[in-house]
Order: sequence, then structure tokens, then C-alpha cells
Amino acid sequence: MAEGAQADALVLFGASGDLARKKVLPALYNLVRHDRLRVPVVGVGRTEWGDADLVAHAEEGARAYGNGFDPATFARLARLLSYVQGDYNDPAVFHQLHAKLEGPRNPVYYLAVPPSLFAVVVGGLKASGCADRGRVVVEKPFGRDLASAHELNVALHDVFAERDVFRIDHYLGKEAVLNLLYVRFANSFLEPIWNRDHVGSIQVTLAESFGVEGRGSFYEEVGALRDVVENHLFNVVAMLAMEPPTSTEHDAMRDRIASVLECVRPLTPHDLVRGQFVGYRDEAGVAPDSDVETYVAVRLHIDNWRWAGVPILIRAGKRLPVTATEVQVELKPPPVEVFGDEAARHPNWVRFRLSPDTTTGIGAWAKQPGDDMAGRLTELKVTANDPDQQTAYERLLAEALEGDATLFAREDGVEAAWRVVDPILDDHPPAIPYEPGTWGPEQARRLTAADHWHDPL
Ligand code: BG6
Repeated sequence: MAEGAQADALVLFGASGDLARKKVLPALYNLVRHDRLRVPVVGVGRTEWGDADLVAHAEEGARAYGNGFDPATFARLARLLSYVQGDYNDPAVFHQLHAKLEGPRNPVYYLAVPPSLFAVVVGGLKASGCADRGRVVVEKPFGRDLASAHELNVALHDVFAERDVFRIDHYLGKEAVLNLLYVRFANSFLEPIWNRDHVGSIQVTLAESFGVEGRGSFYEEVGALRDVVENHLFNVVAMLAMEPPTSTEHDAMRDRIASVLECVRPLTPHDLVRGQFVGYRDEAGVAPDSDVETYVAVRLHIDNWRWAGVPILIRAGKRLPVTATEVQVELKPPPVEVFGDEAARHPNWVRFRLSPDTTTGIGAWAKQPGDDMAGRLTELKVTANDPDQQTAYERLLAEALEGDATLFAREDGVEAAWRVVDPILDDHPPAIPYEPGTWGPEQARRLTAADHWHDPL
């Protein structure tokens, strides 16, 4: 399908599932609300449903997860919805779909199905002729290691050209992540200090106060490293560390993301601490002797001229004290201690809060009024919150329909990320137990140079 061509239908595989109800259908509702969706939406699923059941499922999702519920807006979405039922292994489903897509020339196929079904569904699209046109959107996980990611890419490319494969990592569609990129490259004051000469270290924390919330069996298959680090947080690191895109073309940013991820040194067990919250093993679907990590901390090194020698620390965990995601870029202390050593102990920083709000902060010293040349630490900050701000899924769905691939993961970037974690997927220290409500295992402190993590509040 031509790059940038507007889609004229959306086919949602896995329409009766949880992901569709919680993310995709509410995003479609929000798109209708913002008058950005007018094309027919065909849900496909294994559940024995008719059109009315899909509408009810969408309403449930829109009420619970959309931005406010308005019956008239929902009625506009309902008019676009229809349903095709069947087993993805049965060619009849795809023939039915083909017949439904008689008119549309450029459908988007959205695969909200388990990864084990990706190849089956794209195979069915190919055999039925549905794939002769259109593009495909796939959800993470894109494989579970380098080899399976590569295999998945081969299976997708057997049917769709890379320019028609849109891999969703919702972090790339988040307002706050895009703000980070914008602040970096729309201003001139950061760039001269954004390198190994001035940055001492970078920390990224994704903390969640909740646990696995009924997703025990899913989590047993992934763990924190595969669930949020290798994809979401690596993309955040790529946004922080990449070179400026050379144009606004779809691939300009993806080139930069891939090239910085390709410079990340593959991890060794020495750069890793794994933890598991006490009580995880009692969750439904979790093995009583599970070693799956619900917390992980890693130290990355980017071996390029800009970042050589700057430790990049990432941690993510469930049942931590707060739910918040933050980036803290710590600058090196002043070269000479003119006013004592206070500033050396707390150097300047740039902070990007990615959730629950979008905040950009610059930590600086200011003089404390009085006789002494003594200071206090302050933060100059801007918080931007729009309660009606579009969700990451809404943005990404709209861009998939418009054919703009800029914010979708590309094959080389995905494989580069797996190459970094591949050596430690099986060869790793055991998960260390930690109490819920704490910041994870104490041992993670040893990964940081100053024996200290920046805890988002
Ligand atoms: C998902 C993970 O991809 O991202 C979840 O599967 C995690 O375990 C979620 O909670 C975090 O995303 P967000 O947008 O809530 O920060």
C-alpha cells in the first residue's frame, strides 16, 4: 500500500478480547469524538457473536476506558462496527472478510491477538487475497528473544512489505515521550551539554504500585525485562540519546532510533539485578517456585562518541511505592568548588516526568538570601496536562490509518533491542525477593555510580 495512503477500512482481529475492549475500541471511540474516524470497522474474533455483541463490547470499553462517555458519539461509532466470527485457522473466515472488504482498497489489519497467532492471521490474509492491499498493525511482544523476533519479521515480510508493517509500542505515542523529544530538539540550550562531557549519568524509572492484576500466566511468560524494558524503556532511552532526525520523513526518526540502539552494548549478568515481590508466587497462573522477575534494574552503555562512559540506568517494577515514570539526566558537578562542596553532592539535573503527568524540570542551585554564599536546590519546571489529551493508542491508531509510520517500531530497531538483552534472557542471577511497597532489592544500588537511585514521587 502506498506510503501515506489514507486507509478506508479497519479490520480488528481479536475484537472480542481484552486488549480490544480496554485499548483499541476506546481509542476508536475517542477518534470518533475528535471526528477522526469515518471508515467501517470490521471486528474479527473467535467468540460466537453478532454485530450487536461487538457494539456492546465496544460500549463497555468506551464507558470504562474512553475519555468521558457520550451516547450520541458512541452511536456514531456503533454505526461503523460489524463482526465476522470464526477460527483463524479456517479459511472461511478470511473469505467472509474478503467479501466484506469488496469496496475498500486500503484496509488496515490490526492484530490484537496473541503473538502465536500473528503468522496464522497474516497467512490467512495472504491466502484469501486480503493482503494484496492494506497494511498490518501488530502489538508487542515482537518475539521473546532475538531469534523469535527475527522469525516473526520473516513471517510478516512473507506477506507484507516492511513499509506496511506497523509495530505498536504505545510508549512511542505518549504525549510525554514526544515532549521529551521536542524539548531536546526544539531548544538550543540542551544540545551543547547533552553528551559525555557534561552528563554524569541517566536514570529511567518505571514504577508501578500495583501487581500483575490477574495477568499471572501472561507475566510468567514475559517478566519485567521483556514486558516493559526491552521495548518501552529502550525506546525512551533512544529518544534521550539519539542524534537529531535529519528530516520529517517517516524513516528519519526510525533511522536515528535504530542507530543508537545498535550502539548499546549487549548486557552481561553483571549489569543486571532481578527482583520478585513477596506474594507474586501466590498469584493465579504463577508457578509456586517461579523465578520470573517483577522488578529489574539494568546498567546500559552506549558505545558511541556522544555517550561513551555515561552509565544509563533503567529500572522497572511492580508493587513499588508509587506509580510514576521518570527520566533523570544528572549533569556533572562544577569543575571547581567556589562556594563549598554542596553543589558537587547534588549536581544539576534535567528531569522528564512521563507519567502520571508530563513535567520537564531543571534542577539548579540558587543563593539562599543572607550573609553566606550558601545555596538551596530548586527546580525550574513546567507541567503540561490536558485532561482531554489524546491517548497513545488514539494517536497511533490515527497514524496507522493515515499511513504515517514515524512512531512505529521498525524491524532493525526491534532486532537491535533484542540483541542487547539476548545474552541475559537465560543467563541471569536469580530474582531477589522484595517486600511490596519498597523500591525493590537493595542490591540494585550497586549498579549506580553514586549508590543512589532517583525515586520519582
Ligand atoms: C504494558 C505492560 O505494555 O505497559 C504492562 O504489559 C504495563 O505490564 C504497561 O503496566 C505500562 O504502560 P503505561 O502506559 O501504563 O505506563
